[in-house]
Amino acid sequence: MAPNFDFSGFQDPTLPRVVMPKCATGQQLKGQKALVTGGSSGIGKGVAIGLGQAGADVVVNYHSGAEEAEKVADEIRGFGAKAYAHEADVADEAQVEAMYARMQEEFGGIDILVANAGLQQDAPFDEMTLKQWNKVIGVNLTGQFLCCRAAVRAFKKRGVVPEISCSAGKIICMSSVHDLIPWAGHVNYAASKGGVSLMMKSIAQEVAPYRIRVNAISPGAIRTPINEDAWSTREAYDELMKLIPYKRIGEPDDIARAAVWLASDEADYITGINLYVDGGMTLYPGFESGG
Ligand code: BGC
Repeated sequence: MAPNFDFSGFQDPTLPRVVMPKCATGQQLKGQKALVTGGSSGIGKGVAIGLGQAGADVVVNYHSGAEEAEKVADEIRGFGAKAYAHEADVADEAQVEAMYARMQEEFGGIDILVANAGLQQDAPFDEMTLKQWNKVIGVNLTGQFLCCRAAVRAFKKRGVVPEISCSAGKIICMSSVHDLIPWAGHVNYAASKGGVSLMMKSIAQEVAPYRIRVNAISPGAIRTPINEDAWSTREAYDELMKLIPYKRIGEPDDIARAAVWLASDEADYITGINLYVDGGMTLYPGFESGG
């Protein structure tokens, strides 16, 4: 299927080109509409606020935690952007479709999807139930599939609007260092993130001709409720530091800044990458000495 717009101007220097907007105004995302799934807490909350600070209007999706999601939306409105909270289970096709329909109605479309909603249900492998497996794959992988598919449909339908962005749309899949690092006791989670990574790259390859950029951020240990056990006591924190060459835990804002940049035209021409934001967790820290 051919793209619904004509880029032949890029081949012929005598024809007008799409002009790159000025970079790094602090309002890099002004006028853009973003959806952040799982935006009521943790990394999603940080990213939703970061996008709002950069000028984007934001839909803050949540599954539980309505009050928190409303607070995030309030904070974003405080920056002068539009925002509202929307409850939907990303693993449910009808709920995802309804979420996009409302966004079309209220915001007039979508420019940025951050497919972030995710969870852990940990168990030793031989004790892991099918329910635990299905839940994690359903939210972390199928949920991203459903949200990415709806976003790509909207981006393809609309095409590039040069006044808004160089690309027809941007997707950021929230992956994990565990799309690369195997994780004993968390087989369902690692499998879901490994899946997210190749799903992201395959979508990126397929939709690049439509000027749709698809990337992933792969966070390391970020201070959020999902891994509270790993940072809330001195002993746990010291243990965690053995895995982080940079010797500090990450903060949601570390991920938010990366997401704003990846979603902005400053990152135009970047598609299909995993951006590891992990303080070096993927650098085989066991080899800091010895080997
Ligand atoms: C997990 C966290 C973990 C981190 C580093 C993340 O994807 O959700 O629980 O602390 O990876 O291992």
